Amino acid sequence: MKILVVGGGGREHAIIKKLKENPKVTEIFACPGNGGIAKDATCVDIGAKDIPAITDFAVENKIDFCVVAPDDPLVLGCVDALEAKGIPCFGPNKNAAIIEGSKVFSKNLMQKYNIPTADYAVFADPKEVIEYIRKKNEFPTVIKADGLALGKGVIIAQNLEEAEDAVKSIMEDKMFGESGNHVVVEEFLTGPEVSVLAFTDGKAMVPMVSSMDHKRALDGDKGLNTGGMGTVAPNPYYTKEIADTCMETIFLPTMRAMNAEGRTFKGCLYFGLMLTPKGPKVIEYNCRFGDPETQVVLPLLKTDLLTVMQAVHDETLSELSVEFSDEAAACVIIASGGYPKSYQKGCVMDFGKAETLPDVIVYHAGTALKDGTLVTSGGRVLGVTATGKDLETALQKAYAAIEEIHFDGAFYRKDIGQRALAARK
Ligand code: AMP
Ligand code: GLY
Repeated sequence: MKILVVGGGGREHAIIKKLKENPKVTEIFACPGNGGIAKDATCVDIGAKDIPAITDFAVENKIDFCVVAPDDPLVLGCVDALEAKGIPCFGPNKNAAIIEGSKVFSKNLMQKYNIPTADYAVFADPKEVIEYIRKKNEFPTVIKADGLALGKGVIIAQNLEEAEDAVKSIMEDKMFGESGNHVVVEEFLTGPEVSVLAFTDGKAMVPMVSSMDHKRALDGDKGLNTGGMGTVAPNPYYTKEIADTCMETIFLPTMRAMNAEGRTFKGCLYFGLMLTPKGPKVIEYNCRFGDPETQVVLPLLKTDLLTVMQAVHDETLSELSVEFSDEAAACVIIASGGYPKSYQKGCVMDFGKAETLPDVIVYHAGTALKDGTLVTSGGRVLGVTATGKDLETALQKAYAAIEEIHFDGAFYRKDIGQRALAARK
């Protein structure tokens, strides 16, 4: 089978490495892929948002199955375009990807179907937002741009001044473009956060092993918000009892709600949850695998990934038993100095023995090949994942591999997994 994976980050590298385990897979293409993915797949110089070019490529190369991984092409309708040409895909149609593409949509969906989430209000007029926040006078308050914003569209304002700045940047300066035409103002929730990715074909809902992201740039959850600096799985806060509650109150109701709206979701649905004193609530939905959650979840998947993805496409997921290892996994991101602000590119990388260490996988996120040499090309450069019998072991192996890797300006968090370890005690 010839497979096409749309995307070019660490998540896509993890998906590609897993798909390669299936002996039926003869060739994998990535649009656009990256320097490290080039070792595992044929990289094609087509951007993940260039849907006409992706579709043409898939038709010309007789692709048998396509995995659309990032949010932008999904929200823009990449799956619809490929399916219109008869190419089977893993990923939601455009009318279902809106669950991530519009926070106004997802909040209204949760309200309509009684799915637990933070209280909220929606605005199109900046003056009205400020008036509402002033009257409410409850801080911190959470302000979210309606549309996609590279994971940066959420601002937690500690006072009225910060709220005014946020509203001005989003709605007037349009820092996220059209995504800021509407904003959602939300109640501030507290509690541990859990990421749960689930396979769903609209009939069955199969949650994967839970995970914990580390969003801030620096140790101790300090510094700016990033796309994610590391992950661990499973998440110790996510007990069997909480998982059962989530299935009953969140996962299945979301699946049924999307069906009832005529927007059946097929693919990987990402639940960003907060375990509040009043029970688990949805912080956000994503219409795709999380990054870097995928880099800890897929290494623990025991069932063949392509088989699961095809079952989702064929709507036969309920007939499949999807199994995960009971080991633990940790992923530590190595970033370019300065990230998430501006950073240098083109630094030559030395991997030492990292890639030969047992139970270690080095996923590439922001790397490129320059005259045959691997150089940095993005903010998040690598995701170093290790598995082990428990979280301590996985973390030790991941950090040992990191010691081997060097490039100018490289930095990483030293405390990935520490909150999870503390939670278990
Ligand atoms: P997101 O970009 O939607 O993942 O949000 C980024 C982060 O903002 C989340 O991981 C939470 O830590 C935080 N956040 C979002 N919504 C809320 C909320 N209603 N209350 C508290 N924190 C929130
Ligand atoms: N790690 C969070 C996300 O993928 O959105």
